[in-house]
Amino acid sequence: MAIRKITEYPEEVLGQMGKPVEKFDAELEALCEDMFETMYDAEGVGLAAPQIGLNLRLFVMDCDGIKLIAANPEIVHTEGEQTGQEGCLSVGKVPAVVTRPMKARLRAQDAKGEWFEKEAEGYAARAFLHETDHCNGKLFIEHLPKMRRDMVVKRFRKEKSWR
Ligand code: NI
Repeated sequence: MAIRKITEYPEEVLGQMGKPVEKFDAELEALCEDMFETMYDAEGVGLAAPQIGLNLRLFVMDCDGIKLIAANPEIVHTEGEQTGQEGCLSVGKVPAVVTRPMKARLRAQDAKGEWFEKEAEGYAARAFLHETDHCNGKLFIEHLPKMRRDMVVKRFRKEKSWR
């Protein structure tokens, strides 16, 4: 197991559509272990493969009692609306208020390649949507109006320069 380096905005891989996961083998399991370790180390609740520099449709999460590995994730149903704070390890956890569906149903494959569906509400639904977006090359700041997006990026750059 190893902690991987987290890819940060505006690295190109974060904006690319991920390639499908095709091999469900020991290598994938080891990768998922690294992703969990990297996520816990960074005190995040979700981490997608592009965030460690891999152009792959894969994420892990442990949020509100839902711990899972999702390969080739898709959001198959959403309902309602919630407005709340969100942040991303690739944007220095700078928070911003984002409106998303209240409920989301995720369809994905586990580390063995078995398809499953899982429904979540509130914070965990937000994680499903945020991480699936990463697999599609989309960052949460793209849900913000331009002025607020620019503010998040500005603050992220400023905080980064202090590190
Ligand atoms: Ni993120």
